[in-house]
Amino acid sequence: MADTIDTRMKHLRSRTTQNASEDLASDQQPVDLEPLTPEEGAKRGFSRRTFLSGLGATSLLAGAAPLAAAAPVIEPAIQDQAETGGTGTVTLRINGKDYTLRNLDARATLLDTLRERIHLTGTKKGCDHGQCGACTVHVNGRRVNSCLSFAVMHEGDEITTIEGLGQPGNLHSMQAAFVEHDGYQCGYCTSGQIMSAVALLKEPIGPSDDEVKQAMSGNICRCGAYTNILAAVKQVRSRA
Ligand code: FES
Ligand code: FES
Repeated sequence: MADTIDTRMKHLRSRTTQNASEDLASDQQPVDLEPLTPEEGAKRGFSRRTFLSGLGATSLLAGAAPLAAAAPVIEPAIQDQAETGGTGTVTLRINGKDYTLRNLDARATLLDTLRERIHLTGTKKGCDHGQCGACTVHVNGRRVNSCLSFAVMHEGDEITTIEGLGQPGNLHSMQAAFVEHDGYQCGYCTSGQIMSAVALLKEPIGPSDDEVKQAMSGNICRCGAYTNILAAVKQVRSRA
């Protein structure tokens, strides 16, 4: 049985770190690296070409140990990208203020940039996959899942986060309605809910509860505060 499995898995062997080392070892040719005069080299069949070939084999030998370690091989390539072509200086306009970000990784999401570079932590990271709505912000007045958008794409855009909507003592009417109707429990989803609800005020959404629920369906509340959230949204819509 063991022989059968061994035979079936034979095609995978060269991918294992142990066999990668063995494969490299079997490919390596012995290289005489003792210094030779050109005359001695010619007598022993060495030329500049064979010397350079020898260097290639030596490089393989030197590379054998990192290859055997497997996973870390990819890391330098990613690091190089982040340190050179993958970064740049970007100016983002957030809540009416310009932020110039140096060495911004081209792969940084708007969400991570807001939270980790600009320290606007009111925008929350729930799923980081565009499924919960906790990261909702406004870009040019429209709601956007900031976890699905690269920050570098937003130079010149007007970005609004929950911090730019209202502040204690000067709340946006939607923030006040959420407080009035108890539209939260733990509060983790709340900034995303409010940002969505405010954007919804300008969208062509019908008046029924079902239409409002449908329009807010991208914002998940794990505490199940939906009834109170709906009440808050309806109140503000009725007064708009
Ligand atoms: Fe962006 Fe969940 S964190 S949708
Ligand atoms: Fe807790 Fe919505 S209030 S997840």
